[in-house]
Amino acid sequence: MRVLVLNGPNLGRLGRRQPEIYGATSYAELVARCEEWGRGLGLEVDVRQTNHEGELLDWLNTAADDATPVVLNAGAWTHYSWALYDACAQLSAPLVEVHLSDPAQRPEEFRHHSVVTPHALAVIAGKGVDGYREALQVIGSSA
Ligand code: DQA
Repeated sequence: MRVLVLNGPNLGRLGRRQPEIYGATSYAELVARCEEWGRGLGLEVDVRQTNHEGELLDWLNTAADDATPVVLNAGAWTHYSWALYDACAQLSAPLVEVHLSDPAQRPEEFRHHSVVTPHALAVIAGKGVDGYREALQVIGSSA
């Protein structure tokens, strides 16, 4: 089974961006780990990152057409993009929301709402990069 692991804005800077919040693992390492975890679960994992909202929407639209399961860390778009809400609403295969930090526990009020959660089979937050492994496990066991 093919799975898309989609990452939104600023996540390409993983390891360099606020490591005290997001950890020291680099984005390249995250990609390698997701691919390895996927192999262990018998999943073909395609990991992508974009800083351009339309590109993420295009990937989600294609995932909807192809019924491809999605692991999504939409970064800050999680909290305010109604276009993202609509794109997630049309997915038919499982969608798992993942965050490195736990936005609900962070002081900024804007992080306490997610447009992705209403469409997600599961939300995994606050577990760092290991959260992606859990998300892939959820997808693998939902097949
Ligand atoms: C994040 C949490 C978001 O609030 C933030 O805007 C991000 C990363 C996380 O993985 O913890 O960019 O999605």
